[in-house]
Amino acid sequence: MTQDELKALVGQAALKYVVPGEIVGVGTGSTVNKFIDALATMKDQIKGAVSSSEASTVRLKALGIPVFDSNEVESLSVYIDGADEIDHQGHMVKGGGAALTREKIVAAQSKQFVCIADESKLVDALGAFPLPVEVIPMATARVMRQFAAMGASAVVRLKDGQPLVTDNGQHIVDVMGLKITDPVAFESQVSQWPGVVTVGVFAHQKAQVCLLGTSEGVKTLSF
Ligand code: 5RP
Repeated sequence: MTQDELKALVGQAALKYVVPGEIVGVGTGSTVNKFIDALATMKDQIKGAVSSSEASTVRLKALGIPVFDSNEVESLSVYIDGADEIDHQGHMVKGGGAALTREKIVAAQSKQFVCIADESKLVDALGAFPLPVEVIPMATARVMRQFAAMGASAVVRLKDGQPLVTDNGQHIVDVMGLKITDPVAFESQVSQWPGVVTVGVFAHQKAQVCLLGTSEGVKTLSF
């Protein structure tokens, strides 16, 4: 099966976690796009969605799924999202699609995080995928120096030759050369650096379930 087919498989499998009559939290990315397409088949059974990015909002609305502001909703039963890496405890690296801040907000207001991913995303230790960190532009150089002091290297993510601007008007640095042995401590530490909006380690908002697309079908990992 191709990676695209594996993504479609887990996107479809995630439907069983959607609670009829409720609002569902929706992440961002190519795997989530498959989920959104599948969700459209049961749109009459749900109230709508809270979305984690402008891109997902556009797709949801185009398929006729109402999108609620996160401030209108106190809590969500479930949040469905992809990951760039997930370890065997459900900790993740996210933000490859630059939506990490809103993803963390919607994850935090959800009782259950269901990660949907193809098997290439499962790792023993986080850090091989460049770690996305959303930063306020005036802090970029300082944050990059702090990562350099940890022995890592960071680059500003570009789009069309210019720093990419997130949905929140900020920039992203991608950090290479990290081995994140204690994701909870790492997330807490980097989150406190001045100018860091969001670090792409999701350890406090980890997944409770991962639907992993494999050549043998969908494997369900529970954490
Ligand atoms: C976006 C994310 C995505 O969940 C992550 O990048 C995985 O994306 P894809 O499903 O396209 O592989 O964190 O900010």
